Amino acid sequence: MKKRLKNIVNGFFISFEGIEGSGKSTQAKLLYEALKKRGIHVMLTFEPGGTKIGERIREILLVGPEHAGMVPLTELFLFSAARYQHVHELIMPSLKKGMVVITDRFIDSTMAYQGAGRGIALKTIESINRIATQGLKPHMTFLLDLPAESGIERTGQFFLWSGAEIVAREQKADRFEFEKIAFHRKVRQGYLYLREREPERIILFDATRPVEELHKEIVKIVLQRLTKRVPQIISHNGVRTPSETYYLT
Ligand code: TYD
Repeated sequence: MKKRLKNIVNGFFISFEGIEGSGKSTQAKLLYEALKKRGIHVMLTFEPGGTKIGERIREILLVGPEHAGMVPLTELFLFSAARYQHVHELIMPSLKKGMVVITDRFIDSTMAYQGAGRGIALKTIESINRIATQGLKPHMTFLLDLPAESGIERTGQFFLWSGAEIVAREQKADRFEFEKIAFHRKVRQGYLYLREREPERIILFDATRPVEELHKEIVKIVLQRLTKRVPQIISHNGVRTPSETYYLT
């Protein structure tokens, strides 16, 4: 399956990962804008969601205490269902067109949250992920790492952090934001384990560093990789972009 995918996917697929408050959404957006500014045909999306059906599944998954009874496997299947729709409807078609696709969360979120966090065997998640993604993996994943406590503090509008427990302050906090600090610590460790397993794909950044500094480094790394793939990346108007566009800043 992998070989076949290699032949049909011309675009470039980037994911951003990290615990709550890691700043990955900010970095994903900044990267999107930086690439767009350079005339690169790029799309920004996120999980769970990214499609109409995915959005409905997202509501079921993230609604606060109301769905506290959701068991881990239900959660896994729902994230995976949303992902299959996302890959099928949006990600694959865009990659086939030769676009750069940036997603805020993808397969590693499931490994970290449902695997390390909820305790589902990683092998189980891997095989479900394989079905949900049709074998597609990001070419490059940026993992923004920071201690769980700092991440939680950063999401300050939602939490009261009292040392051992987190109490969601606002009604709009999602089901994961209601989790205790121990859960977020496990998720972080899960991410670091994934990075150890796949150091080539997963690029680790200290998320406590200044936003602009991180952004510059991320853009530099991405442009370096894209430069090697110039013939396959097309510009906004569908014309192949000349390689000059990809000079490093
Ligand atoms: P979201 O509101 O998108 O916030 P953020 O990505 O900024 O944290 O919340 C998504 C939540 O879903 C987040 O807590 C992580 C969780 N999640 C999983 O548990 N498994 C998954 O496979 C994905 C994609 C997300």
